Amino acid sequence: MTLVIDEVWPRTATWAGDQLTIGGIGVRELAAEFGTPAYIIDQAEFEARCAEWRDALTGGEVHYGGKAFLCPEVVRWLDRLGLCLDVCTGGELAVARAGGIAPGRVVFHGNNKSVAELRAAVAWGVGCVVVDSFTEIDRLAAVAAEAGVRQSVLIRVTPGVNAHTHEFIATGGDDSKFGFSLNAGLAAEAVSRVLARPSLELTGLHSHIGSQITDLEGFALAARRMADFLLACERRHGVTIRKLDFGGGLGIVHRPGDPVPPRPAEVVAVLRAVLPGHVRPAVEPGRSIAGPTTVALYEVGTVKEIPGVNTYISVDGGMSDNPRPAMYGAAYTATLASRASGAPPRVATIVGKHCESGDVLIRDLPLPADLRPGDLLAIPASGAYQRAMASNYNHVARPPVVAVRDGAARVIVRRETEEDLLRLYS
Ligand code: LLP
Repeated sequence: MTLVIDEVWPRTATWAGDQLTIGGIGVRELAAEFGTPAYIIDQAEFEARCAEWRDALTGGEVHYGGKAFLCPEVVRWLDRLGLCLDVCTGGELAVARAGGIAPGRVVFHGNNKSVAELRAAVAWGVGCVVVDSFTEIDRLAAVAAEAGVRQSVLIRVTPGVNAHTHEFIATGGDDSKFGFSLNAGLAAEAVSRVLARPSLELTGLHSHIGSQITDLEGFALAARRMADFLLACERRHGVTIRKLDFGGGLGIVHRPGDPVPPRPAEVVAVLRAVLPGHVRPAVEPGRSIAGPTTVALYEVGTVKEIPGVNTYISVDGGMSDNPRPAMYGAAYTATLASRASGAPPRVATIVGKHCESGDVLIRDLPLPADLRPGDLLAIPASGAYQRAMASNYNHVARPPVVAVRDGAARVIVRRETEEDLLRLYS
């Protein structure tokens, strides 16, 4: 069997003998040692993608969007590669701390940060807080004053750009829970209010128009509006604003034949084209770094054929470790990874083990007709918003994340156990 190795699979994924190998290790060995389901992350792919963004944005800052997938080991990788980190809750902040990154390289997002979260961020010394509401401007000003610091802030602006993506992950339009609307005049008012607060320092402006974006149009439009707005604010208030953060949003390919998104350098070129000379650019890619690094590995448990209707292949995970198909209609591919098969393809539906019919991972996928219990299925492009969004629905323990590189494998997030689940209950 041959595997079409393209952007869908991490760069070290290849067929060796009769099985898929990643980072030099066969999936049969990985499953035997770490069990299934498991998320296998190709560390070389992660590092290469970080480096690609970093090298595209020389003179600027790359903040990895930690919401895509974060654990202390990933924080250490980012740190070594010279990236910064975007966190959006007190929990992500705690992981950043545990990973040992310098607080000055962390940016704190969120549309409803609590006073406790703001206190923790300010006390730790985060580089920037991205203020998201008038309430938060007051809240943060008080927290910073109480701590005796002048906190650097970015103002999150919604630039009135509707990115071409799923509505749940589009964030740049006027009707958004995030940030201050440019068109409604709220962004201009936010700038005035931040400048009036002695405990806040206006470092820059921020916009993030959405996620899984595969064309440049939205980025270009948002960048132009943000650059114009920045210059208008400088003129109006006689201040210098040194940073424009364009957020994340670059999409990835999930299936061969999907639209291929631009490379980071192409996105950066669009941003630089409108960037005023004195302003440093920043970006916050999450998915485009983490997504393509990881393969989800499942074991087939049952194969049910309903003659003339459908074939259901049940795997040992499902919507608890990947809610994206159910939430966003996200489409994936999968391959039989643990053996070669010469059987003809048969169209099947891959489902999870959860107690609902919506627990579908992939619909209408041609897979070898002799697929049977015990086979391993590999789903590529599984590194972003999957393990990060995993739940314990039906009291299913969340899978581990195993990092592979040069023939060695290491658990960087261990598998949850029933003991972990029972620990919460009185
Ligand atoms: N910066 C901000 C302020 C964000 O809100 C996000 C994502 C990012 C950066 C990173 O965006 P990325 O480069 O990963 O597109 N759960 C959804 C995606 C939600 C994205 C939330 N914000 C999904 O599974 O598709």
